Amino acid sequence: MIGTQVALHVENTTKSFANSEAKRQWLPVRRKEADKTKPPRKRIVAVDHVSMDVRRREIFGILGANGSGKSTLIRLISTLLIPDEGCITVFDLDVTRDEMAVKRLINRVSVDAAFFKKLSAMENLMYAARLYGLPTVESRDKAVRILTQLGLPKERLYEPLEDMSRGMQQKVAVARGLLSSPIMLLLDEPTTGLDPRSKRDVQVFVQDLRDAHDATILLTTHDMDEADRLCDRIAILDQGRIKVLDTPAALRASVPSDNGHETTMEDVFLHYTGKNLKEDVAE
Ligand SMILES: Nc1ncnc2c1ncn2[C@@H]1O[C@H](COP(=O)(O)OP(=O)(O)OP(=O)(O)O)[C@@H](O)[C@H]1O
Ligand SMILES: [Mg+2]
Repeated sequence: MIGTQVALHVENTTKSFANSEAKRQWLPVRRKEADKTKPPRKRIVAVDHVSMDVRRREIFGILGANGSGKSTLIRLISTLLIPDEGCITVFDLDVTRDEMAVKRLINRVSVDAAFFKKLSAMENLMYAARLYGLPTVESRDKAVRILTQLGLPKERLYEPLEDMSRGMQQKVAVARGLLSSPIMLLLDEPTTGLDPRSKRDVQVFVQDLRDAHDATILLTTHDMDEADRLCDRIAILDQGRIKVLDTPAALRASVPSDNGHETTMEDVFLHYTGKNLKEDVAE
């Protein structure tokens, strides 16, 4: 059961960046003498006054087209970026004021995770364990258990990561995120690029993590069916703003069905954003 306790509270949070065009203009050689004193004005608002709560033991999904602000929101929650406006708390700890305490509760797994590619999955995980200050022997057993549960063959755990497929490396990234037993896990596109079987492995693992280990999970995905099946609630982001936030069933019920066909999450996405995610991803 999902708890009533608020695990994550995001309130009116905004984050903007100077866009690359503005950055280029800022370089003195590219700008006219008269402009040099003026700061560049163009900014991209990546996350635009977002408010949401995630409850304890909830699996919460964020859907959005490329560039809609999903990763920026995850980075703000994981203390990697500081909000321009608004406030974010994780179990009542403020991500800006209580950064270290928040870091102990969460872990972030991103699709572009960095590894030592010449080292094996086990060596990378044991390196992470030392960084987290975890006991060596226990962590070794845990690493093997998580990696094999995620479907990595035991005999491949000791080969250089660069010899593994991208999907396998992604599973290693997920495993690393779990090693410290975070109470809240932030998964940025954990299943993008995985084959159907591997997607399933990761999805089952995410469910198990919530059911057996009491974790709260926030994930981003481009996979509509995955969001529909896996998430307790979903927020749809568009240009940094939350367009709609509800349970998958309520979202589907909110969009009229087309010619007697049952409404799918893809219809829901199209309805609220006017975008077809498949086309968007293919670009
Ligand atoms: N460090 C940065 N500097 C400048 N602009 C940035 C930075 N990070 C993100 N942006 C911009 O903010 C917007 C949101 O980007 P973000 O990476 O959060 O989107 P996303 O929803 O995760 O997209 P994707 O589905 O492609 O991963 C984009 O316009 C992006 O170019
Ligand atoms: Mg992203």
